[in-house]
Amino acid sequence: MAKHYSIAIDGPAGAGKSTIARALAQELGFRYVDTGAIYRTVAYFLDLLGISPKDVDGVTRYIDELTVEIEYDDQGAQHMIMNGMDVTDDIRSQDISQKASLVSAHAIVRDTLLDMQRAVAKKYDVIMDGRDIGTVVLPKATVKIFLTASAEVRAQRRLEEMQAKGSKATFAQVLKDIQQRDYQDTHREIAPLKQAKDAVKVDTSELDIEGVVAAIREIVGKKIPL
Ligand code: DC
Repeated sequence: MAKHYSIAIDGPAGAGKSTIARALAQELGFRYVDTGAIYRTVAYFLDLLGISPKDVDGVTRYIDELTVEIEYDDQGAQHMIMNGMDVTDDIRSQDISQKASLVSAHAIVRDTLLDMQRAVAKKYDVIMDGRDIGTVVLPKATVKIFLTASAEVRAQRRLEEMQAKGSKATFAQVLKDIQQRDYQDTHREIAPLKQAKDAVKVDTSELDIEGVVAAIREIVGKKIPL
């Protein structure tokens, strides 16, 4: 089977992973896989059933009743399908962000989702973003990038995104949410967020989008013809 290129972009919430990955995927003609959306879909499903994301027995009991599929529309945008229903827009709330962070700590959830993520990378050239792509999902990825920025910068960017959509959230609330997710995502026992040994770190605190794209293109260009 032909070997495919894979680019792993890991990092904390709000570092700009999806913006960069989407732009680069379009340029390279790769599939962009937002793995956070998969965990969000699990969290949303359990939430609809009234199961707490911390309730490992409840999570274990109901996870088999969930089928998660990733589909792409004509523009290449990723859609999340939960038991046949498109939930792409429903999974983006602050509440589901928090619940996804909690639900993703369970081994049963991570094990269930591992194969589907690897299957996409076997079939296509991919840019995958998440927390454990370079460390666990694709340990042999062609390029590994660890994208980060200070919590304050990430909170400010997230706030502006939310305000543009009409949200009335405050900086303090968004910062608290980001810090809490950082803590949960880096302190869980299984596949915690951390930089892979062979990943290149890019701190985007002082960079604008063009600056980040340029930095990433330089790293990717060393391994993949652009
Ligand atoms: O990237 P995101 O903010 O949409 O991810 C939501 C949550 O899902 C995140 O707080 C932790 C979890 N997640 C994970 O554990 N592993 C991944 N590869 C991606 C996301």
